[in-house]
Amino acid sequence: MNLNSCIFIAGAHGVAGSAIERLLLSQGYMNLLTPTHKELDLYNFKQVDHYFNRYRPEYVFYTAAKMGSITYRKSHPAELLLENLRMQSNVISCSHTYGVKKLLFMSSDFIYPEKEDGTLREPDFLTGLPCARDFPYSLAKITGVKLCDYYREEYGDDFFTIVPCAFFGLNSSFDLERANVVASMTRRMHTAKLRGDSEFVLWGSGKPIKEFLHSDDVASACLLLMEQEKHESLYNIGSGNGGTSIWELACMIKKVLGYEGAIVCDMTKPDGIMRRVPDSSRIRELGWKPKYDMDAAVRFMCEYYLETLKTKI
Ligand SMILES: NC(=O)c1ccc[n+]([C@@H]2O[C@H](COP(=O)([O-])OP(=O)(O)OC[C@H]3O[C@@H](n4cnc5c(N)ncnc54)[C@H](OP(=O)(O)O)[C@@H]3O)[C@@H](O)[C@H]2O)c1
Repeated sequence: MNLNSCIFIAGAHGVAGSAIERLLLSQGYMNLLTPTHKELDLYNFKQVDHYFNRYRPEYVFYTAAKMGSITYRKSHPAELLLENLRMQSNVISCSHTYGVKKLLFMSSDFIYPEKEDGTLREPDFLTGLPCARDFPYSLAKITGVKLCDYYREEYGDDFFTIVPCAFFGLNSSFDLERANVVASMTRRMHTAKLRGDSEFVLWGSGKPIKEFLHSDDVASACLLLMEQEKHESLYNIGSGNGGTSIWELACMIKKVLGYEGAIVCDMTKPDGIMRRVPDSSRIRELGWKPKYDMDAAVRFMCEYYLETLKTKI
């Protein structure tokens, strides 16, 4: 990839896509295609085909996804599967047709089967059923991985997949129906602080552990991979810190926001999966490591929330 290469970011206005755009711009890449959803509907094959034919991107970062609110996801499994399948298939197949040099497909750790030790490893992909939660989304993401694999096998296309852990950063949603755990906890605890609540209640024991990354670190992993000559099928991207429990996360947010109430656990609520931690040694061997530690990432998010409060919420 050189600074004049034509680079298409599908989903450029989301959390990961916008972080990739910022990073590329900061490094001097000048020829970026970053259409909004309104300008290019990835679900519409004719539009995608026309777009590729017209702009001829050489490199593609696929970071789009249809998720929607929890209520939407529960009540619209068919639409969710179909929308994700169609969007990614349109972009991946047009990337093949129009001779894209490299394509990065952003998948999700929901593609992995649940393992007893809670460690997610690339070779475990498709060795069991994926996580039961958000199954339509997992199925679409699994298909995306395999479609890239098959294009590589059948035609030698350099299409590969990254599997990030949960991430957050600029453009994260604070809508409680859609927000990830860091964004929603930040918003809920800030509200508790303003109301003067004496307690902040966590669902379950607070013991489930996950890894988290700042979106800028996801972007740096994407760029490093795009610059590699050869690719494996899959690359996990995690913080490598062994994960953060929900309890620890709540304590970090409490400290940054200055909330003075107590954090309590509602043990009548289910915990869900106790540990989901990626093994990201494959990308580490290529020299990648995150810039933000968890404290810095949480501080960033709390400050971003307070900024967002002034304008958007
Ligand atoms: N965030 C995480 O913690 C996480 C963790 C693991 C994997 N992932 C995966 O990583 C990728 C990026 O995640 P993210 O958090 O950056 O997602 P995001 O913020 O929700 O961004 C997704 C983008 O896709 C766009 N999009 C959806 N449908 C579209 C369509 N039909 N045509 C054009 N654009 C469309 C959205 O635009 P509109 O909003 O305008 O519809 C949005 O800008 C996704 O594939 C996600 O599944 C995310």
